[in-house]
Amino acid sequence: MSMSAVDVIRAKRDGHRLTREQISWVIGAYTRGEVADEQMSALAMAILLNGMDPAEIAAWTAAMIASGERMDLSGLARPTADKHSTGGVGDKITLPLTPLVAACGVAVPQLSGRGLGHTGGTLDKLEAIPGWRARLTHTEYLAQLHGVGAVICAAGDDLAPADRKLYALRDVTGTVESIPLIASSIMSKKIAEGTAALVLDVKVGSGAFMRSADQARELARTMVALGEAHGVRTSALLTGMDTPLGRTAGNALEVAESLEVLAGGGPADVVELTLALAREMLDAAGPFAAGPLGDPEKALADGRAMDTWRRMIAAQDGDPDAPLPTAREVHQITATESGYLTRLDAYAVGVAAWRLGAGRARKEDAVSPSAGIVMRAKPGDRVTAGQVLLELHTDDPDRLPGAVEALEGGYETGPSWPAEPPLILERIGE
Ligand code: URA
Repeated sequence: MSMSAVDVIRAKRDGHRLTREQISWVIGAYTRGEVADEQMSALAMAILLNGMDPAEIAAWTAAMIASGERMDLSGLARPTADKHSTGGVGDKITLPLTPLVAACGVAVPQLSGRGLGHTGGTLDKLEAIPGWRARLTHTEYLAQLHGVGAVICAAGDDLAPADRKLYALRDVTGTVESIPLIASSIMSKKIAEGTAALVLDVKVGSGAFMRSADQARELARTMVALGEAHGVRTSALLTGMDTPLGRTAGNALEVAESLEVLAGGGPADVVELTLALAREMLDAAGPFAAGPLGDPEKALADGRAMDTWRRMIAAQDGDPDAPLPTAREVHQITATESGYLTRLDAYAVGVAAWRLGAGRARKEDAVSPSAGIVMRAKPGDRVTAGQVLLELHTDDPDRLPGAVEALEGGYETGPSWPAEPPLILERIGE
């Protein structure tokens, strides 16, 4: 049967279900360049407005996986488990989590991305480490998974190429915020990566894609169902993102904070989430969780996670002992009254860190490794007038006014201690 992009667009525009054949054809033809960007933009907008049902989302995801290679990691001696976060401010959890889970006996094949907009990207953070490289050949990737058990690297060009093209298009056509498109985009890459188990950290709040728990729950349920349908044991935690995670936002600053966690210290919220996600990954990976290696708290305390971090960084030519870059300028924002810090908004901090140079506005922009924000106080902390609340780090003083402006109205102090919302809101999965 011959297909036409206009027929597929019209069908979705008019609120009809797309057939598996239509979906498979349109994704394949778009990847080959036979369906034009403007046609795919129109279809993405029709999907954003009219939605897709579970069968359509499953077919869309399968077609995106089939646009590239699905990796086979079943030959590894250890079980595999991975984690994906939908993105937040100060979310450096992948950095301590990956070596921690590997130290507990489960291999972590973490193919990561770069930051866009106000949320940071794992590869940008690791590139703050002198010498570290994000691109590995397929052979290097497999050898590191065998040897160290932990890899964080850039996805190769063969991994869901349809998504790479479509995500860039959605980014410039106002079609990112669609649950079917987000779920299929994330899950096509994670399923193609070949992991046997997957834990999703779905962020909820001002600094996240999903502002409400209802939306986040729907996204999480959609992704868990897609993973299970493709044989990947998948669960999700809904976690709060109204305030940043930890006390730093910015590339080198977040690496330094991750090292504190791996050394057995670090902020309580980062440690809590790292351990919760590690337990989920180990449970999903199976019998190793019950073994003597499988206690993540012990692996942090006895230095095994730090040892694995050092091997993981060195395997990608990074120097784990090299000093991290520091910014030339540090501007302080101080409290104007004594009391408690009652609110520190994740979105405001994310935008400020981005404006200081930690993030990029366009895909081809470079990021500054040293730029970012240190939060000397977090909601619930007692503060006195004149005390430093926030430090703004940058190499370029011209960036400070924009960052200061982004933080206006983004934090509050008051006389009473604010009730602290839980970090982990809900679990979705078997
Ligand atoms: N991250 C992705 O990989 N895809 C989306 O659509 C949104 C976030």
